[in-house]
Amino acid sequence: MKAESSRGEWSSKIGFILAAAGSAIGLGSIWRFPYITGQSGGAVFVLVYLFLVFTIGISLMMAEIVIGKKGRLNAVGSFRRLGGKHWGLVGWIGVIAAFVILSYYGVIGGWTMAYVLKSFTGLISTSGSGEVAKIFEAFISDGKQMLFYQGLFMAATVIVVFRGVSGGIERLCTFCMPALFILMILLIGRALTLPGAMEGVVFFLKPDFSKLSGEVVLSAMGQAFFSLSLGIGAMVIYGSYLPDKTDIPKASLQICFLTFMISLMAGLIIFPSLFAFGMEPGAGAGLTFITLPVVFAKMPGGVLWAASFFVLFFFAALTSSVSLLEVVVSYMIDSLGWDRKKATILLGVLISVVGIPSALSQGAVTINVFGVSFLDAADFFASNLLMPAGGFLTAVFIGWVAYSAGFDGITGGGAVPFRHKKLWMFILRFIAPVCILVIFIAGLKW
Ligand code: TRP
Repeated sequence: MKAESSRGEWSSKIGFILAAAGSAIGLGSIWRFPYITGQSGGAVFVLVYLFLVFTIGISLMMAEIVIGKKGRLNAVGSFRRLGGKHWGLVGWIGVIAAFVILSYYGVIGGWTMAYVLKSFTGLISTSGSGEVAKIFEAFISDGKQMLFYQGLFMAATVIVVFRGVSGGIERLCTFCMPALFILMILLIGRALTLPGAMEGVVFFLKPDFSKLSGEVVLSAMGQAFFSLSLGIGAMVIYGSYLPDKTDIPKASLQICFLTFMISLMAGLIIFPSLFAFGMEPGAGAGLTFITLPVVFAKMPGGVLWAASFFVLFFFAALTSSVSLLEVVVSYMIDSLGWDRKKATILLGVLISVVGIPSALSQGAVTINVFGVSFLDAADFFASNLLMPAGGFLTAVFIGWVAYSAGFDGITGGGAVPFRHKKLWMFILRFIAPVCILVIFIAGLKW
């Protein structure tokens, strides 16, 4: 379906929810959430994350979608249209953040593709957790493989974005997300029945408040932004393709709920298994990739389970990377008048090149920034700094500047009832900006 401005429009309401949930659910829930939880002391982190998702997270998601719906342009354009020229800056922060995130997102996305193949070549038949970890180490320190799979993943992303928003993205989500959901439920069943699994459940769900710190809260905020695709205008874009009469609060609640569920499920697979196999929760970025193969090895027909899981994991990552590339591409199309194909290919190549140091920083070459790998540094910069900064400005924007557009957009000009309008505005005006600032200060004080 085409709108008059030749921007696409969602062919159905479910199409929008699937695409927005597809953007949200990805590496953030299945790769990043478990490993950051493991490093941040477990359940306390989960609790803070839960709280942030359903207060600030959901409010900001509604704000972003409304900005897109009222602005009808990409992030930079929509902010400008509703608030004046200098507000385009918020969109700019988003474009830069999307660029940085995608540069390393492509690396991890490549891992999911590689693991589809590795499922068939010995990864699953070696049952020892030590061996699986060794295979992983060898893989990530092999520069050639890193670059090859990163390139492959980025190529896949480019192809989907190439085909435009409602064609490519909607179709991809319709089958994969329900399938992923079902497969993960089966995996939870397997993980929870391993001997020693309960210890992992306790680590993941029973908070130890002595582990609470400014740093943990900052990581939880970063994870909330990352997993919900907030703070960089990605949801602005999806909102800009939205027909007028949409229940944005309901859609946002569904997206937040789904994302939280998938994260929770990933944790319920990974932590019980980890403890059952005597592995380390703080193992870092490889956590998902060194734990799951051991679980699959304990299942009859493990190779097929593994391959199916990594295929779906890859698609989940792809629907997210697509939304990241779309942030950058749509800006070039809307404001510089570039052709979609040209913009997509050019930016896809550029972002891949910028991602090379991240790809190589996992063991092939030592590239450290502030004592962490290049990839971790890029992730910290984008997730814990740029995204919350974008979120802060978005909250202030709808809370204090474009609030009448906000009210109007959230109710579809009065067509959709919304009972919590005041609460929403209160969160955007006071709670979100103050919390983000305080968390910044508390978390960055090293
Ligand atoms: N939310 C995605 C994930 O969890 C990543 C992502 C996609 C994203 N688009 C985004 C993060 C926009 C921030 C902003 O994997």
